[in-house]
Amino acid sequence: MVRITPVLIAALLAVTGWCSASAETIAVIGTGNVGGALGPRFSELGHDIIYGSRQPQRADVQALVAKTEGNATAMLPAEAAAAADIVVMATKWPDAEVALKSLGDLSGKIILDPNNAVRINAAGMREMDVQTSTAQMIQDWAPNARVVKAFNTLGAPTMADPSSAGGPVTIPIAGNDAGAKAVIASLVTGIGFEVVDMGDISAAHVIEGMLIIRGNAGTMGTPFNYYFRPVPQN
Ligand SMILES: NC(=O)c1ccc[n+]([C@@H]2O[C@H](COP(=O)([O-])OP(=O)(O)OC[C@H]3O[C@@H](n4cnc5c(N)ncnc54)[C@H](OP(=O)(O)O)[C@@H]3O)[C@@H](O)[C@H]2O)c1
Repeated sequence: MVRITPVLIAALLAVTGWCSASAETIAVIGTGNVGGALGPRFSELGHDIIYGSRQPQRADVQALVAKTEGNATAMLPAEAAAAADIVVMATKWPDAEVALKSLGDLSGKIILDPNNAVRINAAGMREMDVQTSTAQMIQDWAPNARVVKAFNTLGAPTMADPSSAGGPVTIPIAGNDAGAKAVIASLVTGIGFEVVDMGDISAAHVIEGMLIIRGNAGTMGTPFNYYFRPVPQN
């Protein structure tokens, strides 16, 4: 587990040639809770947001475009993905495979995966509904893309307003490509969260399990957000 500091992010971004201060084009596929939270936040960092919607002219999609800063627009999902270097897969998990496979060639693109695959068991509690992880499955469906797990362990209202958590919130990330993780880490920290790198894509299984226990704790009346206090370095 690696706590990613701003210095480390800058060093990794320099290696990849990506500059957190430059405007990138980010396709946000899905205009619901997560897409509607992350799109406007990422636009605050100066990035251009293209919402990928099945109905880009719908009134609620156009309202989301209007509340997003900069050169925001909405178009069909495949058009949005083709124009972007970063693709946020913010559809419901049961729709993700069809949605992803409709996006065309994703080779080299960074895919941000905030998904959770959740089923409710006989006791009314959440369980993971995939064997590996949504991130691993997305990586398998798009083997030449650079998938990064992030933003699945907190609620969309907190993404939209980190101050509503009443204190710092840590977002764990995982993925196979260090440069892609540095880019996503810069987005995470840029909008007000702490970030910890949990390792390669296999770690996404545990990160998705974190959402299960967080959700179940909420069901049992003890809701929390994740904050990892660093061990003091002597
Ligand atoms: N809600 C949360 O607080 C939260 C927090 C962390 C993670 N997550 C995870 O994030 C994912 C998204 O959750 P959400 O709450 O944002 O879902 P949501 O509000 O239902 O939004 C999903 C969006 O996906 C789009 N969509 C649906 N079917 C599609 C398809 N076949 N192709 C392309 N787009 C399609 C729709 O946008 P258009 O109609 O515009 O196409 C829809 O608004 C889920 O896996 C969820 O578990 C949710």
